[in-house]
Amino acid sequence: MQFFLDTADVHEISALVETGLVDGVTTNPSLIAKSGRQFIEAIKEICALVPGPVSAEVAATDFETMLAEGEKLAGIAKNVVVKVPLTYDGLRVCKILSGQGVPVNVTLCFSANQALLAAKAGAAYISPFVGRLDDIGQDGMELIHDILDVYSNYPEFYTQVLAASIRHPQHVLAAAKAGAHVATMPASTLKQLYHHPLTDKGLAAFVSDWAKTGQRILDVAPSTKKTA
Ligand code: G3P
Repeated sequence: MQFFLDTADVHEISALVETGLVDGVTTNPSLIAKSGRQFIEAIKEICALVPGPVSAEVAATDFETMLAEGEKLAGIAKNVVVKVPLTYDGLRVCKILSGQGVPVNVTLCFSANQALLAAKAGAAYISPFVGRLDDIGQDGMELIHDILDVYSNYPEFYTQVLAASIRHPQHVLAAAKAGAHVATMPASTLKQLYHHPLTDKGLAAFVSDWAKTGQRILDVAPSTKKTA
């Protein structure tokens, strides 16, 4: 499973890229507004930091402007993925850009039928919003399962399921169990995945017991001969 960071905060991204666990980044207009950054500059910087796919979303909602924006965004860097909303015009733009070899992420997906349309339009990624469905009392993860089921019937589809609007570690685990190709999550959620109180407790005991031995691993000269 690939992990994408769902943020436009360059500092947050650069800190987590060091872990080697960040496969890509997704942004959206709300995240750009939150970052306070100039959009194109921020995308350029993120693309230089992260070798994997970086989703940059069009701002317009009409076909002509969305297409022009998508073409402009695709020109920023080789790893830009153009993000378009799941609308009639958004899917038209998806079909055209995909046909030109530009990877497209279709966002704001809330039904399996919408995901089916995105796959037919050649999307590289479909972004079902898990958390926002949970917010209105529906089961967001059920949508992930439904889309994966539908796509598995059609081997010619290459659209990857990118579980979005991930809010907590349980979402990540459920998306991984379902077999989602990608989970995009806030930096805070990725950091939460590391933590378990028993890990902290166990480590504290190891550190304290090790101190009692009075030994230091780095003080011992390595033996030249390895034992089997
Ligand atoms: O990738 C889409 C995501 O940013 C939406 O998340 O938490 O605003 O529903 P959220």
